[in-house]
Amino acid sequence: MSKKIAIDGPAGAGKSTIAKLVAKDLGFIYVDTGAMYRAMALYMINNKIDPADSEKISETCKSADITIKHENGIQVVYLNGENVNSLIRTEAVGNMASASSVNGDVRKKLVELQQKLAETVDVVMDGRDIGTVVLPNADLKIFLTASSRVRAERRFKELTAKGEECSIDVIEKDIIERDYRDSHRENSPLKQADDAVLVDSSNMTIEEVAGRIIELYRSKS
Ligand code: DC
Repeated sequence: MSKKIAIDGPAGAGKSTIAKLVAKDLGFIYVDTGAMYRAMALYMINNKIDPADSEKISETCKSADITIKHENGIQVVYLNGENVNSLIRTEAVGNMASASSVNGDVRKKLVELQQKLAETVDVVMDGRDIGTVVLPNADLKIFLTASSRVRAERRFKELTAKGEECSIDVIEKDIIERDYRDSHRENSPLKQADDAVLVDSSNMTIEEVAGRIIELYRSKS
């Protein structure tokens, strides 16, 4: 049986950075499920779908063929045969992903793909519903969080490093609103699985968090 580690939590908690480190250390494959929702969102944008039109989203998602490959340890997302890694990290795609990931048909399709991936290889998978819906039998479940202020500070640093002007208070307000949306949606809301270990990264370094998760995994297996 392949091994599975699930890492869920709100945006900005450091899930992907930490999941990559844990996967590398344990020799597992890192699966970024947010990238799949982003690829689906890109497809919606390319087809000029209104984010509020759930019927159209349900219909359109049927013709999106999303596949994942790992090339030199990096996850590559293909949308209908095209590598879309460099196209899915924009604000526009993120906003559409936030709207289209609410759709039950989109979720069903991507959850099936995620479950299939985890059947044959050892994975560290991150997202919002991995421990609760995608991999309910994961060997280890982590709910990774950090205070909204700390997450806003991290985002502020990223944006200012890119030369973008922004306000930390506005970023924090956006984070609080997004947390509320993510945890109150009808389909697969963001919530800690009953058997997940809560890790608060507010006062921890990336290495400390990764080390703690690896230690938790080793103590269980
Ligand atoms: O983690 P991210 O920002 O790349 O995620 C993009 C969007 O997809 C975000 O709005 C949350 C959503 N998402 C989800 O609903 N379920 C997942 N398992 C992963 C991401």
